[in-house]
Amino acid sequence: MPDSLQAALSAARDVVANVIESQPAFSSPMVDAAMRYALEGGKVLRGFLVIEGAKLHGVEYFNAGHAAAAIECIHAYSLVHDDLPCMDDDDLRRGRPTVHRKWDEATAVLAGDALQSVAFELILSSHYPDGVKVDLTETLAVAARQMVEGQALDIAAESVAEPLGLEAVEQLQALKTGALIRWSAKAGAYLAEADPAALDAYGRALGVAFQIADDLLDVEGEEEKTGKRVGKDETAGKATFVSHLGVDGAKARAAALVDEAEAALGPYGAKADVLRQAARFVIERDL
Ligand code: IPE
Ligand code: IPE
Ligand code: MG
Ligand code: MG
Ligand code: MG
Repeated sequence: MPDSLQAALSAARDVVANVIESQPAFSSPMVDAAMRYALEGGKVLRGFLVIEGAKLHGVEYFNAGHAAAAIECIHAYSLVHDDLPCMDDDDLRRGRPTVHRKWDEATAVLAGDALQSVAFELILSSHYPDGVKVDLTETLAVAARQMVEGQALDIAAESVAEPLGLEAVEQLQALKTGALIRWSAKAGAYLAEADPAALDAYGRALGVAFQIADDLLDVEGEEEKTGKRVGKDETAGKATFVSHLGVDGAKARAAALVDEAEAALGPYGAKADVLRQAARFVIERDL
């Protein structure tokens, strides 16, 4: 990974951690601990996208902190619930026991629920102008709902006789993973009250590329690096880009999407180089 990307990801991790630390404790110590645990140890790619998108529009990185922390809360909630026995039934996440394994299912459900509320509290309690708060809240609510729609399609697809076709897989993935990444990419434009079109196009392509890379990691990745179990999609009979196109075909599709994402950043010129690096990283990562 290029040094500049590494530094920017690490700065985003710090910004998000500071915002989270400054939040009051939840009245249930167990749920509070589970929420904080669920927020630890990730790449913070979505928070990074918010911060870098904001920077492109002249918003200082610390001013993007509440929006970056908000999307990381929604993402963490989605993972806690995704891992539940009634969903993907996973016991390992970010190299550690999943929340329902470390505590119990009720705690995992409640921690996820609370993380979703906290995301909106973070935006609404920020110092952002009212119009920015409205834009961020409305669009984040839509993205979080789309993630759930994608998850619902994903679960439903496990119990149908015919595997989903490629087009249906792409639609599903654009919802379950794409929506939150797309929101992250364009949130900086909302923060600056600027036109989100270019960042939206970048985020749309990046989101699908990201899930293709996740599906490839499930086939080719190593548990020690990804911090989660691998080989689960095939066992669950999930239709993915890999099951449709094979490993090489899926890689080619992801690479084409990254080209698309990079091209969308054209209007920003060299200022957007770290976002270009992030797009490459998304498909080259091993974690
Ligand atoms: C994993 O997302 C879940 C998907 C949407 C595929 P990440 O790979 O960004 O997970 P963390 O946050 O770094 O653990
Ligand atoms: C999950 O996709 C996407 C979410 C909305 C959480 P996966 O089920 O493939 O994510 P991992 O592989 O468990 O991280
Ligand atoms: Mg899943
Ligand atoms: Mg999963
Ligand atoms: Mg996966």
